[in-house]
Amino acid sequence: MAPNRTAQLKKIRDEIWNLSKSPLYKYRIKNKYFPVIGEGNHFAKIIFIGEAPGQREAETGRPFCGAAGKILGELLISIGLKREDVYITNVVKDRPPNNRDPEPVEIEIYSPFLDRQISIIKPKIIATLGRFSTKYILEKLNLPEKNGSITKLHGAVIDAKVPFGEVKIVPLYHPAVALYSAGSRKILEEDFKILKELI
Ligand code: URA
Repeated sequence: MAPNRTAQLKKIRDEIWNLSKSPLYKYRIKNKYFPVIGEGNHFAKIIFIGEAPGQREAETGRPFCGAAGKILGELLISIGLKREDVYITNVVKDRPPNNRDPEPVEIEIYSPFLDRQISIIKPKIIATLGRFSTKYILEKLNLPEKNGSITKLHGAVIDAKVPFGEVKIVPLYHPAVALYSAGSRKILEEDFKILKELI
């Protein structure tokens, strides 16, 4: 019998904990940070994929638990969902120094873990938060939208076929943009309503 989802996800966690080949591993150890694997419902219909952990996330090991996470939580509540209903993770599982953008080599090292998380959880909806996860998923699935900017793609519903079935990809702005711009927050609220209709 195939190992259950929790066991498979735990294996991913163990592998990332020991990922000494990552350029971010030393930084994690030096700062006594945690890797941020992902959390939520292992049978979630919807998975949210961010970019990489920030400081608060690396200090706690929990995705989206800082300022951007507060906004994500509010957006979820606005469509009648709780964090526990969905699965939340990132493309890169360790904090890049000073919250810099992830390097291509880091995305290359960590993204196979994201691919495995998706194929274990088998969501119906993949909501990408921000340009890095959007680009990664659209390129990975080789979708025609792969070269589009997040400004154009946010709120779109893109149908895709994956080995476990059909999924809908919904690119969204990263919730952190709402920290600096009330207009972006409004756009996120509107785009989340699309998610609500899909569920
Ligand atoms: N930003 C992200 O992209 N991911 C987190 O987990 C926190 C902030």
